[in-house]
Amino acid sequence: MPRKFIVGGNFKLNGSQSSLKTLVEGLNQGNLDSNVEIVVSPPFVYLDQVRKAVRKDVAVAGQNCYSKASGAYTGEVAAEMLKDIGIEWVILGHSERREIFKETDDEIGLKVAHALKAGLKVMACIGEKLEERENNKTTEVVVRQLAAIAKHVSDWTNVVIAYEPVWAIGTGKVATPDQAQEVHKDIRAWLKEKVSAEVAEATRIMYGGSVNGGNAATLAKEEDIDGFLVGGASLKPEFVTICNAKAKM
Ligand code: PGA
Repeated sequence: MPRKFIVGGNFKLNGSQSSLKTLVEGLNQGNLDSNVEIVVSPPFVYLDQVRKAVRKDVAVAGQNCYSKASGAYTGEVAAEMLKDIGIEWVILGHSERREIFKETDDEIGLKVAHALKAGLKVMACIGEKLEERENNKTTEVVVRQLAAIAKHVSDWTNVVIAYEPVWAIGTGKVATPDQAQEVHKDIRAWLKEKVSAEVAEATRIMYGGSVNGGNAATLAKEEDIDGFLVGGASLKPEFVTICNAKAKM
């Protein structure tokens, strides 16, 4: 079975009721490729608004969730709560969570485990920093982060991996198709060796980092790039172009 192309829009800490209303209207009117799975991820407080307003063939994701279902964890949101309001997906392990909020590989592994148990689908993010790439540590870092996640996953059906080199996120410095393909291939090879050939073949690996309407179609041609996780450009009308990038081939 070919892997279904998937495009996620990570709005990060952006938006208001009114700007997201406009953005959702744009998506609802957009001519979206029905062969592509599309997921948008507004901040928590707008999840319900977006879920209710967006067309039903577009899914909605939380940008994070905690590794416990309930309790004295001020400020946290549970996977069960996302499920309760009809959210299907969650983004976990984004580099901004790792870097700014100091989430560790282990915590991210626990969050992935809990989110899957609660019935969410997970976009699990991994990726190296610039100095790690410059020191030839890309594979080592990506595999370390992946292993911390894989430790908690027994069924990969609801897991998508997002490879997002930190140096490419929000910088306008997109990885070249070759650079991205090389790491995606390594990730798939690791899955084959450590998990199974079936999981390696079936698991989608998205690329993230300065994807835009101009570079998406070229990246989408790479064999192991099965989608995109888009930040900045997901807030703009060009997000529709990115969603349709695979169809243009
Ligand atoms: P960017 O962000 O597209 O703005 O580089 C990607 C991401 O953080 O998922």
